[in-house]
Amino acid sequence: MNQSTLNSPSVAVVGVTGAVGQEFLAVLEQRNFPIGKLTLLASARSKGKTVTFKGKEYTIEELTEDSFKDVDLALFSAGGSISKRFAPIASDAGATVVDNSSAFRMTDGVPLVVPEVNPEAAGGIELGKGGIIANPNCSTIIMLVPVTPLHREAVVQRMVVSTYQAASGAGAAAMAELEQQTREVLAGQKPTCDIFTQQYAFNLFSHNSDIGPEGYNTEEMKMVRETHKIWGQDASSKTAITATCVRVPVMRAHAESINLRFEKPLSADAAREILRNAPGVSIIDERQQNRFPTPLDATGKDDVFVGRVRRDISLNGSMTDHGLDIFVCGDQLRKGAALNAVQIAELLL
Ligand SMILES: NC(=O)c1ccc[n+]([C@@H]2O[C@H](COP(=O)([O-])OP(=O)(O)OC[C@H]3O[C@@H](n4cnc5c(N)ncnc54)[C@H](OP(=O)(O)O)[C@@H]3O)[C@@H](O)[C@H]2O)c1
Repeated sequence: MNQSTLNSPSVAVVGVTGAVGQEFLAVLEQRNFPIGKLTLLASARSKGKTVTFKGKEYTIEELTEDSFKDVDLALFSAGGSISKRFAPIASDAGATVVDNSSAFRMTDGVPLVVPEVNPEAAGGIELGKGGIIANPNCSTIIMLVPVTPLHREAVVQRMVVSTYQAASGAGAAAMAELEQQTREVLAGQKPTCDIFTQQYAFNLFSHNSDIGPEGYNTEEMKMVRETHKIWGQDASSKTAITATCVRVPVMRAHAESINLRFEKPLSADAAREILRNAPGVSIIDERQQNRFPTPLDATGKDDVFVGRVRRDISLNGSMTDHGLDIFVCGDQLRKGAALNAVQIAELLL
């Protein structure tokens, strides 16, 4: 790797017109990520459109097999099928890929990284020398940023999570559909259902991903399997995890209710103290005011917000103090996608 690659890598953003792609530009600018040359890529539909980054106008190019010549870092967020086809091409051309899709997350040898949790997994990959690093599922990241420091202290034996997921998790078109449906319903009209099959405004429904033979949808299984991979657990050490994922008519930022059962006792006060010192975590836990994290608190923010830290009263006897309930909110376009991916890239600088 030459010095110019380290100091000012040539960066390509794939899927730059999308919800995550737009957030990539915001995060790269806000964090002043060093960039030698910036290439913005999307589909043929967006070719020739312009985007402003750091006050300079850039023209979007169509993604092709030749897009990655002299690119050191390629940030992908254009869907799984695009990543499957183009990430290996980019890597072969020498670009180090950080991929937001699920295409490579569970592939052996591909690191699945949350920088606050397992930065060491990205070791051995050098910027500008190819290689693919996967960004975990957004709900998984938002869960693991606060849960991992508790796990390190008291070892999570079992985790039960229920999610309340925002429209932005399904992309820019889903956000537009929620807005449109809200207007339509308020005007007494039939809501347009192009992205989701059911009315979303003033409603909620089970996550719109495929359902497997056990009755879990793929979003739920991502939270289970990706957690095991990120925590480096094998069949003998796996934490028991079950998830229920639900879409709620919130524009941006996911919420999650998480029940934890620990191997060792951990009081709510001790957990709050651990969370206070945890990287990437902010606490809003004001019982007197009934004030706890909301998606609006998390929107546009880097941290995952945690509150409702309380002892699980269903456990007693020798298990008293072995269980906690927490409620978390995180901006999944940011920490669940663009920010986490840029933090991964920063590990490589
Ligand atoms: N939304 C989230 O919170 C989130 C979180 C974590 C991971 N992800 C993952 O990130 C990826 C993008 O999600 P998103 O929410 O940003 O979706 P989105 O808003 O629908 O954006 C999709 C992007 O992909 C581009 N694209 C589509 N077909 C393409 C093609 N044939 N060639 C090149 N570019 C193409 C689109 O470009 P055009 O505008 O030109 O069509 C657009 O820039 C997905 O894999 C998703 O699972 C999303």
